[in-house]
Amino acid sequence: MSRLVVVSNRVALPGETRAGGLATGLLAALSERGGLWFGWSGRSVGGDSGALHEAQDGAIRYLTMDLSKTDLDNYYNGFANRALWPLLHFRLDLVDYDRRKREGYWKVNSLFADTLAPLLRDDDTVWIHDYHLIPLAALLRERGVGCRIGFFLHVPVPSADLMQALPDHRSLFSALYSYDLLGFQTRRDVDRFQSYVRLFGGGQLIDGDWIRTPDGRRVRTAAFPIGIDTEHIARQARSAASNKAVRDLRQSLQHRKLAIGVDRLDYSKGLPERFHGFERYLQRYPQQKGDMTFLQIAPVSRGSVNEYRKLRGDLERLAGHINGGHAEADWTPLRYVNQNYAHSTLTGFYRQAAVGLVTPLRDGMNLVAKEYIAAQDPENPGMLVLSLLAGAADELKQALLVNPHDLDGVADAIATAANMPRAERIERWRAMMEHLRTHDIHRWRRDYLLALEGA
Ligand code: G6P
Repeated sequence: MSRLVVVSNRVALPGETRAGGLATGLLAALSERGGLWFGWSGRSVGGDSGALHEAQDGAIRYLTMDLSKTDLDNYYNGFANRALWPLLHFRLDLVDYDRRKREGYWKVNSLFADTLAPLLRDDDTVWIHDYHLIPLAALLRERGVGCRIGFFLHVPVPSADLMQALPDHRSLFSALYSYDLLGFQTRRDVDRFQSYVRLFGGGQLIDGDWIRTPDGRRVRTAAFPIGIDTEHIARQARSAASNKAVRDLRQSLQHRKLAIGVDRLDYSKGLPERFHGFERYLQRYPQQKGDMTFLQIAPVSRGSVNEYRKLRGDLERLAGHINGGHAEADWTPLRYVNQNYAHSTLTGFYRQAAVGLVTPLRDGMNLVAKEYIAAQDPENPGMLVLSLLAGAADELKQALLVNPHDLDGVADAIATAANMPRAERIERWRAMMEHLRTHDIHRWRRDYLLALEGA
C-alpha cells in the first residue's frame, strides 16, 4: 500500500477533542498506511504566511502552515467563504466576488503546493479535500508531481449555469482536470458537475463516469456519500445518557418532548425557516401547546463574514419573537443556544430528542441527520424530519422528508414525528440504521481510496 497524504484546510491535530466523523475516518486511513496530513494551522499571524508546525503521532506526521492575516482574509474569509461557499450552495445572490480575494486564494494554494511538492514521492496517494483547495492538484502538477491525486468535494455542486456565473469560472473549475478522481457526495452532484464539463468546461463525457478533458486526459467522477462512525456513535449515545449535561437537560424538560437541531450558524442550514416552521407548528396545533420544547444549538461559525453576523442577529430577534408570542410562565418553547458541546454530549442530546430537525436549504450531505439516527434508543427511537435538499435525503428515505421552504409542511412533519406510534418509528429507524451500519465512514474512505488507486 502506498503512503497516504491528506490535504485539507482544517487539520484534526492529535489531542484535539472535537474531532468529528470525517477526522476519525481519515485518521484510520492514515494510520493503516502511514502518512502525512497537511493543511492550515488554524492560526493567522502578523507577518508573512508560511511558518510550518510539525507533529508526529504513531505512523502519522502532521504538517500545518500559519497564514498571514491578509492571506487568510483573502483565501478563507474572502474567496472560499464569500464566493465559493454561497455559489456551491446555490446562493448566487450572496456571492461576493473580488479579484484580489481570488488571487489570495490562488496564492495560498500555491504556498501549499510549494511546501508539499518536494515532500511527495511518485508512489504516494494524495487525497485533497473540499472547496478551499480546488486548484491544488493543478499547482502540484506544475511543480512536477506525478503521483495519484484525488479530490473530494464535501459540499454540493450547483447547476452548471450558476457555476458559469462565477467570473473566471473556467480557470478555477478546469483546475479539477488535474486530479485522477473527483468524488462528490451524491449522484446528482456528479450529474451537475458533468453537465458543467459538457456545457461550459470544454470537456466531454465518455463511458459512464469518465470525462475527457480538453487536453485529452481521462478523469473519473463518482459519488461517494460520506458516512459516520455508526457503531461508535451508537455506543457513545448510550453511555452519554448518564452524562451530567444530558441528565440536566432531561430534568429541565419536565416530561415534555424534545425536538433538537444542531447546526453551525450558517445560512445554508435554513435556521430562520426552521424557526418559522416551528412557530407554524405552534400555531397550527394549539392542542399540543406545551407538549414540546425545541432546542436549537447553533455554534457561531465564520464570525468575521458579514452574512454570518447578520444571520446571528436575525435569529436572536426571531427566537425572542417566538418565545414572546408563545411562552408561558413555566414553558419556553424555543431554546436557542450558541454554545458548542462536546460531541459525546450531543449524541446524548440526540438520544433524548423525540424529534430531530435537520432542514437545510442546501447541504452536501449533513452528518447531523445520520448521527441523530445512530444515537437513538432502538426500543424507542425518535423521528427525523429531514430536508429534501440535503444529500442525506438520498439515503435516509424513511425519515419524514420535507421541503424546508414549505412552512406548513415542516409544521405538519413536526406534529407527525412527535406523535408517530412506536412500532412505526422502530420500523423506519431499523431500515435507516441498517443502511448507516453498512455505509459507514470506514466504508466511505475504503471505497474512495480503492477507486483512486484504480483510477
Ligand atoms: C463545512 C465544510 C468544511 C468546513 C466546515 C466547518 O462542512 O465543508 O470544509 O471545515 O464546514 O467550517 P470552517 O469554515 O469552520 O472550517
